[in-house]
Amino acid sequence: MRQEAIGEAHSKLILVGEHIVVYNKPAIAIPCPLTLRARIKERNGEITISSQFYTGSIYDMPDRAKGILECVKRSFELCNKPMEGVQIEIQSDIPVGRGLGSSAASATAIVRGIYKYFNKDITTEELFSLVELAESYAHGRPSGIDMMAVVREEPIMYQRTEGASSLIAPKPFHVVVADTGTIGDTKKAVSHVKKMRSQRPWEIDHTMAQIEEIVIKAKESILTGDSELLGSLLTRNHEKLRELGVSVSSLDRLVEVAIRLGALGAKLTGGGMGGCIIALAKDIESAKTISTGLMENGATKVWYFSTNSKNWFTVHSGICVD
Ligand code: PMV
Repeated sequence: MRQEAIGEAHSKLILVGEHIVVYNKPAIAIPCPLTLRARIKERNGEITISSQFYTGSIYDMPDRAKGILECVKRSFELCNKPMEGVQIEIQSDIPVGRGLGSSAASATAIVRGIYKYFNKDITTEELFSLVELAESYAHGRPSGIDMMAVVREEPIMYQRTEGASSLIAPKPFHVVVADTGTIGDTKKAVSHVKKMRSQRPWEIDHTMAQIEEIVIKAKESILTGDSELLGSLLTRNHEKLRELGVSVSSLDRLVEVAIRLGALGAKLTGGGMGGCIIALAKDIESAKTISTGLMENGATKVWYFSTNSKNWFTVHSGICVD
């Protein structure tokens, strides 16, 4: 056992295919360089947790964070340790409720931190099953894409029954992420789509089939490094998400602004009904211009980054804040 250990996880962006992935269709997610760290420190007595949103006993956390309690309990069990004697400090760059996978990243970082603290190795399967415990509280019926995406360092194509496969791009992409400043509501958006599907099955299944085609083409465009095609597919996917009723005017506005400023394409990312948009730029200069323009047109925060073709690690990045 160590006196202190740190577990880390990065955020994720859904490039295309959110919502249809709940229905066992494919989607593509990419790692996003915003990170979250969980510091596990020795302390006498009950486990405490401290973060931007909550500080206190792990047992008194608000209901929406109860999944974390289950996941910590199980992690201690699997490490054969009594559930006591540490404090967990969360430090995060990932905004909450914006479709960037902050809940999956918290659970992932905490589990990694606990295992490191007890000097125990963790298998990928073990990590997934623990994060899944936390995620099923957060999302109700998660497809699993968030947790898969936060533990992978490269873009993945994901399907519920097939799992994830890596997509290696031959050249960099330039990505802009802009925050509407409003919390998205994945649970509400997922149940909205479910309701629409039960009311108008033919129409919604048709839209979902069109999104699936977009995902298949997006996969090809990543593998061939065709950022223009990928950009146009993002914009098309946004239109389809609007048809599913999960966009809102603040997201539509940022998408329009990004395209007007020269983005190759843009869309909402994640569950929708608030949260963030993702835009693709032709180069890093254009990404900066789009970022500044988005800040002038209502975004509350914008991040931009370029990816390295081999492992998708960030090579240039920046942030614009109000
Ligand atoms: O909003 P996020 O980051 O949790 O993304 C959810 C993606 C959905 O497809 C809408 C739901 C899911 O479980 O896949």
